[in-house]
Amino acid sequence: MDLLTLDEALDLPQARANELFAAHLNRYLLRAFEILGYSEMDIAGAEGVVIHLRDGREILDFSGGIGICGVGHNHPRVLAAERKCQERKVIDLMRVAPHRLQGALAHNIAQCLPDPLDVSFFTVSGAEAVEGAMKLCERIQGPKGKTKFIAMQGAFHGKLHGSLSVTTASRFQSGFIMGIPQENVITVPYGDLEAVRAAIAAETRDGVNSIVAVIVEPIRGEACEVPPEGYLTELAQLCRDNDVMSIFDEVKTGMGRTGKFVAFQHEDVVPDVTTLAKSLGGAKRAIGAMVTSQENWEKAYGSVRDCTIHSTGFGGLGSTMAIALETINIMHEEGLIDRCAELGEYFGGRLRALQEKHPKTVAEVRGRGLFQALRFRFKETFAAKVAGITGNEIFRSYQSVMIGALNRELYQRHNVLTHFQPGALDVMHFMPPLIVTEAQIDQVVDGLDDVLTRGMTDATVRFITANARRVLRL
Ligand SMILES: Cc1ncc(COP(=O)(O)O)c(C=O)c1O
Repeated sequence: MDLLTLDEALDLPQARANELFAAHLNRYLLRAFEILGYSEMDIAGAEGVVIHLRDGREILDFSGGIGICGVGHNHPRVLAAERKCQERKVIDLMRVAPHRLQGALAHNIAQCLPDPLDVSFFTVSGAEAVEGAMKLCERIQGPKGKTKFIAMQGAFHGKLHGSLSVTTASRFQSGFIMGIPQENVITVPYGDLEAVRAAIAAETRDGVNSIVAVIVEPIRGEACEVPPEGYLTELAQLCRDNDVMSIFDEVKTGMGRTGKFVAFQHEDVVPDVTTLAKSLGGAKRAIGAMVTSQENWEKAYGSVRDCTIHSTGFGGLGSTMAIALETINIMHEEGLIDRCAELGEYFGGRLRALQEKHPKTVAEVRGRGLFQALRFRFKETFAAKVAGITGNEIFRSYQSVMIGALNRELYQRHNVLTHFQPGALDVMHFMPPLIVTEAQIDQVVDGLDDVLTRGMTDATVRFITANARRVLRL
């Protein structure tokens, strides 16, 4: 046996760490990181918005762990909460008696959400929170003979069997047997109320429809698509009018990300069920939550016999609860949610000015708060032709080459991390921690300006050259 000690693991040279990643985790993911230039990121640590590399470089993290990093990396109060739990030897695992920290966190979440959303179920991931939401609705609607969900085209709700069944973005369902049979999932275009109305009508016999629930992201995360104003309100009303439940999945948009605690608070609406995850763990712990009303909880699981029909062993660990509780308190005490709204205005304004300067490349600025995005006009550029002729399966399409090229350029020339999603390869996402400063936003937008001024062709040729070995299939 050749076991690494913790100190050896913490100090592993980057090349060796990558070898281990390839050998024991996912060598194709490593390859994707190599293509983007990220596999060389030799990280010493991270603080706030900054990732420190061992060579002294400082990287601005505008990807934020794809939105997980709300209060920033290693927030001092999150670290202090961890230490406090250690000092007090907080019990983490306890399933045979009520845990005071679970009650406290659920109380605080209820304070942040509108009435009547005041009952939480804790999980360790966003997908599990979605599963919890879907199962709750099934328990309530199943006895009425309802069997179908309405989901949005291009939606992302997670990759477990149930959540995957309503995740229609990209190729995520490829090769899997769905938890919910596909004939029981009706998909409609995002933002299109008439399509939901028509789908319910088509599923109605003798005045009764077969729809359990509609599940929707308040901003469609894969492409950062903000729905038309009033959409969520009208959707919830349409659901109520037809005895269909509404699930607003706030895994990506919740926890202050859009300038409200949850994004549906931009409208005067309350769904039957909502979900939280990502930033809830203070960038330190894995936690998700499904939140509903006492009335719905009662209908689904309202007896001693049934109250644990849906449960999970690791949902609600003591110190995870403490850190999530502290994270919510930090957000409120540091005014991060209001600040997020203000900085979102600033960021959006700077991105719109960038669009005006580069109208041939930047098609659209999207987003709300500190979930911002740029949609590019890749197709009409010369660089698209250059990217297209590589025809390499690793690059998949000219869009993936071009979005990859832009991300790589931003990282290598300007020390900025951004990301994109497979379901929308013409969109670059920005999800910095909510503690980001205007100066850091300026650094990112100025960097983008420089990359776009150099031109898409320059970025694309540099990207292909950097990956020449792969293009030539060597
Ligand atoms: C809206 C939404 N729901 C659910 C999930 C799944 O969360 P997790 O990756 O924690 O399972 C995600 C993940 O990005 C998401 O964006």
